[in-house]
Parts: sequence; C-alpha cells; structure tokens
Amino acid sequence: PHTAGRISLIHNGIIENYIELRERLAAEGREFKSETDTEIAAHLVDSYLKESDDPYEAFKKACADIRGSFAFLAIDSENPDRILVAKNATPIVIGEGQGEVVIASDIPAVLEITKDIRVLEDGDIAEVRLDSLRIENNGEPVERVLQHISWDPVTAQKGGFKHFMLKEINEQPEVIADTFRGRIVRDPAGVTLPEIGLSAEDISRIDRILLLACGTALHACLVAKFYLEEFTGIPCEVDYASEFRYRTPVFNEKTLVIAISQSGETADTLAAVESASGTARTLGICNVLGSSLARKVNHVMFTHAGPEISVASTKAFTTQIVAAYLLAIYLGLERGTLDSERSLQLLDALTRAPQAVSDAIKSESLVEGVARKYHRSRGFLFIGRGNCYPIALEGALKLKEISYIHAEGYPAGEMKHGPIALIDEELPVVVVLQREKRIYDKALSNLREVESRGGRIIAVTDADDTAELEALSDTVIKVPFVSNELSPLVLTIPLQLLAYYVAVHNGTDVDLPRNLAKSVTVE
Ligand code: M6R
Repeated sequence: PHTAGRISLIHNGIIENYIELRERLAAEGREFKSETDTEIAAHLVDSYLKESDDPYEAFKKACADIRGSFAFLAIDSENPDRILVAKNATPIVIGEGQGEVVIASDIPAVLEITKDIRVLEDGDIAEVRLDSLRIENNGEPVERVLQHISWDPVTAQKGGFKHFMLKEINEQPEVIADTFRGRIVRDPAGVTLPEIGLSAEDISRIDRILLLACGTALHACLVAKFYLEEFTGIPCEVDYASEFRYRTPVFNEKTLVIAISQSGETADTLAAVESASGTARTLGICNVLGSSLARKVNHVMFTHAGPEISVASTKAFTTQIVAAYLLAIYLGLERGTLDSERSLQLLDALTRAPQAVSDAIKSESLVEGVARKYHRSRGFLFIGRGNCYPIALEGALKLKEISYIHAEGYPAGEMKHGPIALIDEELPVVVVLQREKRIYDKALSNLREVESRGGRIIAVTDADDTAELEALSDTVIKVPFVSNELSPLVLTIPLQLLAYYVAVHNGTDVDLPRNLAKSVTVE
C-alpha cells in the first residue's frame, strides 16, 4: 500500500492523467516518496479529506478526478472499520464469509474463504464494513447480487470456462485495451512509450528492421512488418529466430532487431537476439516481466496480456499486434513519416478495436457449427492476402496445434502455383478476406477457382457487401470492420474459435496438446 497522510491505498491498473494530478498535488505542497501513479491516488484522497472529513466522500471526489483503469482499495487511519473500494475497467469482487469480508481482483483468490461473492461493475464505489455494504454508481445507490459460486478450484482458475484457451479468447477485448491504455496521447495525437527508452537520435539512425520470433509470435512479426513499413518507410525483414543464426544475416549498428515473444524464454529467439546484440540495437516485445528476453534486449515494450496458460497462444498474439501497431506509430511520428492527423485516425481506430473483437467473439455459435460439420476433415487450407496472409498462417497453426489435423496457410494469390491441385469436395478452404477493395475483388476471383473445383469455402470477412461471397461459400462468418490496418486483429478471432471447437469435437486435449510445451526453452 501507498500511504499519504491518513490514507493507505492499493491499486491495480493505470492512472492516465497522473502527471497532471501530480503537478496539482505538488502545487499544494505535497511531497512524494515514489514515482508511481498509485501514490498520487493516495494523496488525492487524503487531500479531499481537508474539504470533508467523511472518507467516503473524499474517496468519491478523488475517483471522479482520475482517468484510466483502476481497482482501488483504501483505508482511512481514523476510520479503520471500513474499506473503500472503486472499480473502473479493472475487476473487483467482494466475498462475504463467516464474520469476514474479503475483497480481491478475481474470484479464485477468495474461494478458499468464501463462495458467496458480489462482482462490482465499472463506476461502482463501495464502502465495505463487517456488518454493512453500500455501493453507488454515478451517485445513485445500486445493488450487486450476492452470487454463490459452485466452481471447484481448477474451474475457478478458468473463470468458469471449460478451457483456458476459451477463457483467454474471451479476455482479448480487455487485454487489447490494457495494451494501449496509458500509451495513447491526444492533442496532438501521439504514442507515449517512455519505458522503452529509445532516444530521438536512436530512432533517426535506424535504416533497417529485422523482426525475429517463433511460431505465433512470428505471425505477429509478419503483421508488424506491414505497420512498420507503412508508417516509417524503413525496410523490414521477418525471419524465424531458429533460421536467423544459420545464415549470414546482414545487419549493422543502424539495424533495429525486434524480437517478439510471449514468454520471453524461447531458446531460439534468445539465441537470435544474442547473435545480433553488440552490433545491432535490440528491442523486445514481450508479455512476461523480468523474463530473459526482457533482460537481454536494449529496449523492451510489454504487451500486458496477463498470464497465458493455454499452450495455444491467442491473447498474446493479438496484444503483440497491438504493441507493434503502437510502436510503428511512435516511430513514424518521431521520424516525421506520419503526421498527427493520420496518427489520430490510426489511434482512434485502435480504441474501437476492443468492441469489434468483443463482437467478433459473438460469432462463437456459428463457428462451432462449422467446426461440427468439418471436424473430421483430413486437412484444411487457409488462404489470405496482404496483412491477412499472416492470419491465414496463424489459423492453420492454431488448428494443427490443438486438433492434430494437417492445415496449411497460403497467400491467396499463390493458389494457382500449386495448392489448387489439392482442391476437391473433401477439402475445406478457409479464406480470410478483409474489406479493402483491391484485395477483396482479387480474393473473390481466387474463390471462384476453388468453387468451380468443388472446394468447400468458409469465409471470414469484415466486408459488408458479401452477396457474391455468400453465393460462393458454404459459410460466411462476418466480423465488424475497424480499419484496413486492424483487420488482422479482428479476423483472427473466428479462426481461434474454429481451432478450439474442432479440437473440442475431436476430443483432444485443448490446453495441453500432445508433444508441445508452453515455453520452448530448448533449441
Ligand atoms: O513464448 P513465445 O512467444 O516466444 O513462443 C513462441 C512459440 O513457441 C509459440 O508462439 C507457439 O507457436 C504457440 N504454441 C502457438 O500457439
């Protein structure tokens, strides 16, 4: 807890306007012991105690001044019989036991003490005492039902979902927002990434970018290449980390090597970074704080996806795409290849992505039906074009990884150079089709070739005029359109669900597929 005057406070989340609040409190003569945003919240509540001696009122006023995501618990030393609680975009549950109350960020944390739980909602401010509870939202008293949770400890960790993979798929709207929260600046539009510590001089010197990773993270690199080349004009190359060391890669001190890894412990990725270190500048995009990659690179950017338990990566992938998008905008603005108007459009689109991803998850029952129909197929072909070609690769990897069915990802335009020979009535062809007209029209002509050979087409698209696509396809799964740049982020969701449900129908071990480990720490 951070303590300021009478108030001790703990916080989960990010206070976006903490610099502004810190300046205001400093002007009132307050001194700080740390650089954290949490300490600012403690001071703010304490400062309002000067206006009203009621800690609940002071706490409410402080919360109204704060922008960002927060779950706060605060105690006033002069009223130690009550805990003040606030929730905004970060979870909070209140468990009611025998003569005790327990407040935590998620249900599994309290289950050993009690199974009777209230889940707070965004905007709730509560005052918890042993014998009473009051909750307000927008100044009005509200009730949150006391629910009896009957989960066993393992189900509890899965948040009530059957598998970690499904839980993690459903967490994506929230963790995507966590990845960009606190990093977007407005007026003028920009991205703030002070933690990576790249100087303006470092950025202006870069003349080449090498993106290195393995598996799903490699697919995030392929999407990142589109962003980096479009927003910065710097030539980018993507390589499997395991291949990088076995050729004679060309790089020098003007090269930026970007390694993407969920765990930060993948042996091949670490070795590839090692071989470039000393000459090139290295930057890691990583999920796990304190991991080997985070310690090895010159600069690090965390994705904030939270723990990913399922071997099949889902939320780590989408947050890697978001981190790469932010990084590319940041570099583009610093180098003057992006102006603030365009950046504003790009950043606005990003803030719409969590809702679009949430809506895409609603395709679940339609996708489950497709999985039921095709789960016995011997193989699947996934095709895509432009920035959605990596999504076709990712869809194929996800499916083979957990359902053990052979699946291949291919650029749609390459079909006629070989894979078209595979097409028959037995082969489901999954096409990832973004709205962008140039690509959409070309892909339709590829699909006519598939259809005329009897192939079964499953289309995943963010286009709205889909009449012809529907005539050609067995099933069309529609997701919301956010922007041409962010189509990959949304279109990947139904493919995650497809892999999941094919595996469920085939009875394979979804979260722990055979022969695979979550972190591949050997070469
Ligand atoms: O931890 P990393 O991101 O470095 O892991 C890389 C790959 O091993 C990983 O993405 C793997 O391909 C996943 N199981 C895919 O779902």
